[in-house]
Amino acid sequence: MANKTHIHAQWSSRLAFMMAAVGSSVGLGNVWKFPYMTGESGGGAFVLIYMVSIALIGLPILMSEWLLGRLGQKNPITTMSTIAGRLKRSQAWALIGVGGILAAYLILSFYSVIGGWALAYIKYSVTGTFSGLDGDGVSSLFGNLLGSPGRLLAWHSLFMVLTIGVVAGGVSGGLERAAKLLMPALAVLLVVLVGYAATTGSFADGLAYLFRPDFSQLTGDVWLAALGHAFFTLSLGMGIMMAYGSYLSDDVNIGRTALTVVILDTVIALAAGMAIFPVVFANQLDPAAGPGLVFQTLPLAFGGMSGGILFGSLFFILLVFAALTSAISLLEPIVEWLEEQSPLSRLQATLVAGAATWLLGIATVLSFNDWSGFQPFGMSILDLLDYLTSKLMLPLTGLATILFVGWVMGRDEVRAQLNMSPTAFAVWRFTARFVSPIGVAIVFIFGLIN
Ligand code: PHE
Repeated sequence: MANKTHIHAQWSSRLAFMMAAVGSSVGLGNVWKFPYMTGESGGGAFVLIYMVSIALIGLPILMSEWLLGRLGQKNPITTMSTIAGRLKRSQAWALIGVGGILAAYLILSFYSVIGGWALAYIKYSVTGTFSGLDGDGVSSLFGNLLGSPGRLLAWHSLFMVLTIGVVAGGVSGGLERAAKLLMPALAVLLVVLVGYAATTGSFADGLAYLFRPDFSQLTGDVWLAALGHAFFTLSLGMGIMMAYGSYLSDDVNIGRTALTVVILDTVIALAAGMAIFPVVFANQLDPAAGPGLVFQTLPLAFGGMSGGILFGSLFFILLVFAALTSAISLLEPIVEWLEEQSPLSRLQATLVAGAATWLLGIATVLSFNDWSGFQPFGMSILDLLDYLTSKLMLPLTGLATILFVGWVMGRDEVRAQLNMSPTAFAVWRFTARFVSPIGVAIVFIFGLIN
């Protein structure tokens, strides 16, 4: 596959791979979910556990998914069953791929609704709705959107149509090439916002909230939330990264590439937090406002800064773009699976998978208004879907993946894939065999009985 004489072609395919991986991982998880979970979990202690989970669990699992994908060269289900078959192990390992597809379906159903919020906020910013709004103004703007099932449904539908269009049109490659420009632009805008936050007078409070851990806030559920978010934000436990791994050429250094993706993803999330929390404290808002947090804080910043219409519009456009590159990575595996399991063509499979996801998304849409009294297991539908996926399914498939690479596969085969120095490999293998699985297991058990 890799032809060593074509340096440039390899460079561009490596870049394309990076953009696909970053495109999948950087999204609403960083800008929308990370800040609101931090706020709901009491701040710094959550952030600390999240970063530890990223380093000790997320990074090794990301590397494991890529190396399995590069070895198997197929979709996650076939990859797992081929490698397990070759090692004369149970075909049950292929369940990792099956579980991933179900998780992707559940996640995309609510992801699209939140992507719809971001679309609505493009409209609000372009039309200058934010200027002069105070804390009450931004929360009633958001409240009105959530209170209207029709409008929520329309924006959710538009987001889903965009996602289906990209996947059906086979232009996700083009989108990923655009990511090369637009992702850095999002990062620059976040820096501008952090700069603005630094002028609010509550910058120090915001930073202290994010980075000074208050360990009295650490419950089992906070641990589980932080662990689950490490999976969500890196797109792990769904076979997505495994599928991408099948495009990796043999000379790509998996460890270094994974480290780059993990650092970019984490820096973007932290920047979002640093842009949001100072605004929260400067305006006496509630850090634990929940899923509406970003949408109720940044408009205050845009409304108050000069050039706010331009920055606000750009910001929400880039956020939608980042959400789209993640959403296509969620829809793709469902479509591929459907295409293989049925006589449907690619286009038909995309339409069916997209429609099924859209339909389930309606439950999330209604959970904010007409069905708000319906709280299965004491949770909103959004929280329930998030619980099932981030806190149960993703950690379980992730655990299975790392156990497979750490304990089922031979040391030499893994070593050949990772191509690290002997010491680095020894550290990696110890982490993969003991630290990560034990970490997931402990957090999981304590989070569930909590
Ligand atoms: N990682 C994406 C984000 O942070 C969301 C996502 C989750 C994408 C799982 C694909 C798979 O927004």
